[in-house]
Amino acid sequence: MQYEVVLPAAGSGKRMGAGQNKLFLQLNNKPILIHTLEVFESDDACTGIWLAVKPEERAYIQALLERYRITKVKGLPNGGKERQHSVHSCIKAMQQVEIVLVHDAARPFITKPIIARLVEVAQEKGAVIAGVKAKDTMKKVRDGIIMETVDRESLWMIQTPQAFRFDLLRHAEDVAEKQGFLGTDEAMLVERLGHQVHIVESTYENVKMTTAEDLIFGEAILKQRNN
Ligand code: C5P
Repeated sequence: MQYEVVLPAAGSGKRMGAGQNKLFLQLNNKPILIHTLEVFESDDACTGIWLAVKPEERAYIQALLERYRITKVKGLPNGGKERQHSVHSCIKAMQQVEIVLVHDAARPFITKPIIARLVEVAQEKGAVIAGVKAKDTMKKVRDGIIMETVDRESLWMIQTPQAFRFDLLRHAEDVAEKQGFLGTDEAMLVERLGHQVHIVESTYENVKMTTAEDLIFGEAILKQRNN
């Protein structure tokens, strides 16, 4: 089953504290952005990549795409103020496809078997996201005081990719924009329409490069994979 993927890449990466877009930082001498792109470039089921970029970074990213021979990028629309705006900008630029994936450009360790499973479930059910079970004891805290210990069995930490039938995600994004609703992931926009969202168990390796220590994990994952 074929799909196209939206990769929001227009963040500022403040939490990384690198003073530049964190996606340009290198893991094993290659930019994080390219690690992520190569997963989709090498996946035969992926027929198009849409990258949301900052206008001032477009030329640099285009040069990276050429240098690393990434050929599947169909468009580089302007990103927006928030991640959701960046994703919406790509969705609006796309032609109708059956299945669309949204994946953080900052998660370079996603694997093809997980992508394939997400695409399969999206085709059948309409909406599905990747996640892992919470490992730690989880508590609700207010003003430094424990309010409640939450049953861990029902708690998942949500990642990307998130996969949807294209028309469902486009509708959910349009409604959210019209109502001024801002979510922290795409699934929230679909959930609030009353549509069921399914989950596929992913791996703890599919970490988002967010803070400086994530780069250490990232290097370690690559080293282990290359052994
Ligand atoms: O900041 P964070 O790592 O949570 O962002 C997740 C992804 O969304 C990153 O790949 C980042 O480049 C992208 N993003 C974006 N537009 C924004 C904010 C983040 O494309 N306004």
